[in-house]
Amino acid sequence: PFPEFARLRAEDPVHWSSAMKAWIITRHADVKQVALNRQISADRLTPFFKTNAEYQRGSIDSLVRYLNHWMVFRDPPDHTRLRRLFNKAFTPTSVSNLRPGIEGIVAHLIDGMEAKARRGETVDYIADFAYPLPASVIMDLLGVPRADLERVKIWSDDIALFIGTAQVAGNKYLRAEAGAKAMADYFLGLIAARTAEPRDDMISNLLLARDDREALTTDEIIGTCILLLFAGHETTTNLIGNGFLYAMRNRDQWERLVSDTSLAESAVEEFLRYDGPSGALARVAGADIEMGGRTIRQGQRVFAFMNAANRDPEAFADPERFDIGREPNAHLTFGHGIHFCLGAPLARLEAQIATTRLAERLPGIRLSGGDPEWHDSLILRGVKRLPVQLF
Ligand code: HEM
Repeated sequence: PFPEFARLRAEDPVHWSSAMKAWIITRHADVKQVALNRQISADRLTPFFKTNAEYQRGSIDSLVRYLNHWMVFRDPPDHTRLRRLFNKAFTPTSVSNLRPGIEGIVAHLIDGMEAKARRGETVDYIADFAYPLPASVIMDLLGVPRADLERVKIWSDDIALFIGTAQVAGNKYLRAEAGAKAMADYFLGLIAARTAEPRDDMISNLLLARDDREALTTDEIIGTCILLLFAGHETTTNLIGNGFLYAMRNRDQWERLVSDTSLAESAVEEFLRYDGPSGALARVAGADIEMGGRTIRQGQRVFAFMNAANRDPEAFADPERFDIGREPNAHLTFGHGIHFCLGAPLARLEAQIATTRLAERLPGIRLSGGDPEWHDSLILRGVKRLPVQLF
């Protein structure tokens, strides 16, 4: 997508795409404006539902019920209240408490890759490392038992059919609805269990905080748990996957990291910038808005592409260069403004630990397949498989 982004950024930075029936925004300054402009709404669900036949038939009621509580789709004041209640769980301090757990998972997964390699089996960096790491971390955080990981993953993939662009056989909305229903029932069970017997996990903490004046409803807790599972999962896999891919393709940068792992922090920022996991910020104009000499009409959709903004020469020196020591690095991969990614401290910590330990334990790791195949998606940027040789 990058050559096309570069052309749009230079020639038509506020572009009307008749194929997508949406505005495509590609400049760094404009993407920030989209995120900050209070007349541009994050609620793209309501207009979507209005035109959706399944919604009108009442056959996606669970999806509607829970997705309506996703803070990422809400505007103030709803957004402000939900975000404040969940902020506490994601402060730098509460996230750094997760460090020992993340270290343990990373060590275990590297052990697993080594064992596989020694048995002569093919190691896939995605399936064996980049995927299970964030999945295990987010499940632990929420208090979902590891044994349920596979089941939850299937429902989560089904819900993704509603949000993503994937083409599948059958009615994807009905499958997403079934996923949402199963997931909600599952979390209801978990809430009942933690009400009876609290543990040290997020669901217990949310339940204990219920006597607050602004307490969350059960639907809000369920909706947000689904959002966290969803948001905290494949994005981070793709951060760890894409970053690794470019580190392997730019071997000098990998060697630099191996000889000085204190670069892990800035390396992760460069992974986020160079080919980050998120697609576009999706919004709907709440009024007529002027941008870059064009008029975005009320009700029209706006997609602000972060990966395009992240290579804007107006914002980055030598933007096409992959430089793990880049400073400053004001990428927009976690968004901007009030919806700035809630899980950013967690995603950063996971990727930093993964990168550091990999460089220490497997400095000779290299790609063993050809060019990887990318997922066919507008909202998630990542590769399907990355076969590697460890030694
Ligand atoms: C919001 C990206 C990891 C939870 C966002 C947004 C972006 C983003 C771009 C803003 C969306 C918008 O404005 O429309 C990423 C990336 C990640 C990542 C690139 C990994 C590399 C996580 C993790 C969690 C998480 C690990 C949770 C554990 C959320 C939540 C929101 C959000 C709850 C909504 C915040 C709000 O609306 O106020 N993320 N995310 N994300 N992210 Fe992340």
